[in-house]
Amino acid sequence: MNLLKKLESHKLLLFVLKRLSEGYKSSDGRIYLVGGAVRDLIIDGEKINDLDILITSGYPLDYAENLKNEGLTDHIRGESIYNTAKLIIEYQKKSFCIDINHARTEQYINPGSLPEIEWVDSLFFDVSRRDFSINAIAMSLNSDSFGEVLDYLNGIEDLGKKKIRVLHNDSFIDDPIRIFRLIRYMKRLGLTIEGNTKSLLKNAVIDNLLANVSGDRIFDELVKCLSEEYSHLYFEAFDTYGIFKDFHFDTTALKRFEKDPSFITMKGDNSLDTILLKILLLGSPVFLQYNMPKGYKRFIENYLNNCIEWKKRILLTSSDSELHGIASSLQDESILAIAFSSVPEDKACALIKHYFSSLKWMKTHLTGRDLISMGVEQGKQISIILGEILEEKIQGNIEDSLEAEIEFIEKKLGRNV
Ligand code: CTP
Repeated sequence: MNLLKKLESHKLLLFVLKRLSEGYKSSDGRIYLVGGAVRDLIIDGEKINDLDILITSGYPLDYAENLKNEGLTDHIRGESIYNTAKLIIEYQKKSFCIDINHARTEQYINPGSLPEIEWVDSLFFDVSRRDFSINAIAMSLNSDSFGEVLDYLNGIEDLGKKKIRVLHNDSFIDDPIRIFRLIRYMKRLGLTIEGNTKSLLKNAVIDNLLANVSGDRIFDELVKCLSEEYSHLYFEAFDTYGIFKDFHFDTTALKRFEKDPSFITMKGDNSLDTILLKILLLGSPVFLQYNMPKGYKRFIENYLNNCIEWKKRILLTSSDSELHGIASSLQDESILAIAFSSVPEDKACALIKHYFSSLKWMKTHLTGRDLISMGVEQGKQISIILGEILEEKIQGNIEDSLEAEIEFIEKKLGRNV
C-alpha cells in the first residue's frame, strides 16, 4: 500500500512530511511516520496534526536542530528522559506537533513503571514494542519509497475488521495505562476488542494492574476521555469492563448534555470549563482521589455536598430577580450540572434554562464611567447603582434600552426628564 494518493488531499500535511524527509540527512539511517497519523490516514481521519517521526540513526535533537536551521520551526524542546525531541511546525495557519524518536526497544522491569530502553536500527523491533496493531503501522518518509506502508504486524487487516488487538500477551502488564487507551480507541474509532485481547483485558482488571499506575497518569487519561464529544460512551465502557471496580458511573446526565449541549452554546460563551462540567455531571467521587488542577477538587466537593440544597433554593424562587440572585451566585458549571441532572420536565431544569438563555446575559447599557459623567460620585456607589439598574431591568421595571436607563438615573438624581 502507498499513501501518497491519500496525502494529496492533505496538502499541508504532505508539504510538512516532505520537508521532514528532506531535513533528515543521514547516510545510513531511515525515517518513518508511525502510530496514530498513519492509522488515521488509512481510515481517512480528518485532523492529522500530531506526527510521530521515527529515525533509525542519529540523535533526534540534532535532526530537530537541522530542521530549525532550515527555517522549518522555531519551537524545539528536547526531552532528556528518552532522548527525544518535540517541535511545532506552523504552516499556513495550521500547527503540527512533531515527536521525533529514535527506534528503540523497551523493557519493563516493574509493571507500570517507566521502561528501560535501548536504541536499535530496526523499524520492526520498534513497532513490536507498541500497544496495538493499529498503532504499529509505519509509512516511509525516505525519498526512495516515500508514502509506502510497512505493516509488519497486520494492523491494516485489523483496521479493516474494526478490531483492536494487543501485540503481545504482556502488553497490559508492561503498561496498564493501555487499558484506558484501548477503551479510547475502541470508542473513538468504533472498534470491537479481539478475543485474546479481551481475555487479557479482563485479567488485567482482575489483577488490579491499574494500582501500579500513578494517579496523575490516570487522571490525564480520564481528561482525554472527557474531551471526546461523546464521552459518556467511554464511562459506560469503564463500567462494562469493571475498570473502576467499586465505582459505578451513572452517565444519564452526561449523556443528556452531550446529546443536546445547544442551550449552552446559544450565547457563544467560551468561558465554560466543559471538562469540569462533565465531571460534575458524572457526580462521582472517583475523581476526588486524583491530583486535579485549578482547584477542581474543592469545586467538585462543594458541588457534591451542596447540589441538592442549591436545587431546592432554585425551585423555591418566585421571580426572575430571585432566580438571577441565586443562579448568578453559583458557578455556571454548577447550575448547568443541576439542570442536566434533572429530568427535562423538571421545573428546576426549566428555570435554569430560562436563566441561562436570557437572565444571565442581561447587562446594563450604562457603564461606571457614564454614571460619573452624569454626576454620580466615584466609589462604591457606582456598583450599587449599576446593580440597581440591573435589578429593575430583570423585574421588568426598566425597558432594555440606553435611554430608559438614563431616564432612571436622571430621576434617581432628582433631575427633571
Ligand atoms: N504507545 C504505546 N503504549 C503507550 C503509549 C503509546 O505503545 N502506553 C505508542 C503507540 O504506538 C502510539 C504511539 O506510541 O501510536 C504514540 O502515542 P500517542 O501519541 O499517545 O498516540 P497516537 O497513536 O498518536 O494516537 P492518538 O493521539 O490519536 O490517541
